[in-house]
Amino acid sequence: MLRTLYQSDINQILAIENAVHIAPWNEQTFKACFQAGYTGWVVEADKKIIGFIIISVTSEECHILNLCVAREFQGKGWGRALLEHALNHVRKHGIGIAYLEVRRSNRRAISLYRQMKFHQIGERKGYYPTVSGNEDALVFAISLHEEQERQ
Ligand SMILES: CC(C)(COP(=O)(O)OP(=O)(O)OC[C@H]1O[C@@H](n2cnc3c(N)ncnc32)[C@H](O)[C@@H]1OP(=O)(O)O)[C@@H](O)C(=O)NCCC(=O)NCCS
Repeated sequence: MLRTLYQSDINQILAIENAVHIAPWNEQTFKACFQAGYTGWVVEADKKIIGFIIISVTSEECHILNLCVAREFQGKGWGRALLEHALNHVRKHGIGIAYLEVRRSNRRAISLYRQMKFHQIGERKGYYPTVSGNEDALVFAISLHEEQERQ
């Protein structure tokens, strides 16, 4: 089941975040997302959260801030479902473009974004910390107006 993310979900999504990310967000960062009015959704199985997405939206654009699926549930279509849901939501609100950053080494996520018709529009050198230094971020975007026209 896919539903809205609530602040009471923070403990569960924090556990997933800590288990899958090299440099995970902490509780304060998640709380700040709620304070900032960001939007999110979770996927639940047996009333347990197995994945989530958080986006920020302005009047013109959407930024995908975090997309994460628990390791044992990866590769089953949940990441795509969360991303499609978020993009459909912002498209309905007339938002024309969505952006995201991804680690250059994150082949799985990059494959998902390319499949969903995101295009690389740039990169940020040394944007992400790693255990041994820094790693570049690739910046991807999708034009939602174009997507709408194609349908
Ligand atoms: C990236 C992530 C969100 C994808 O979610 P997921 O539920 O595992 O992916 P899905 O099952 O929806 O797969 C969608 C597409 O991702 C790609 N993908 C999934 N598993 C893959 C794998 N093992 N190797 C390569 N590509 C893979 C494929 O393109 C796949 O499409 P296909 O099934 O038609 O081939 C998830 O793996 C994850 O949480 N990873 C850790 C956190 C992270 O990297 N988040 C993104 C930060 S930018």
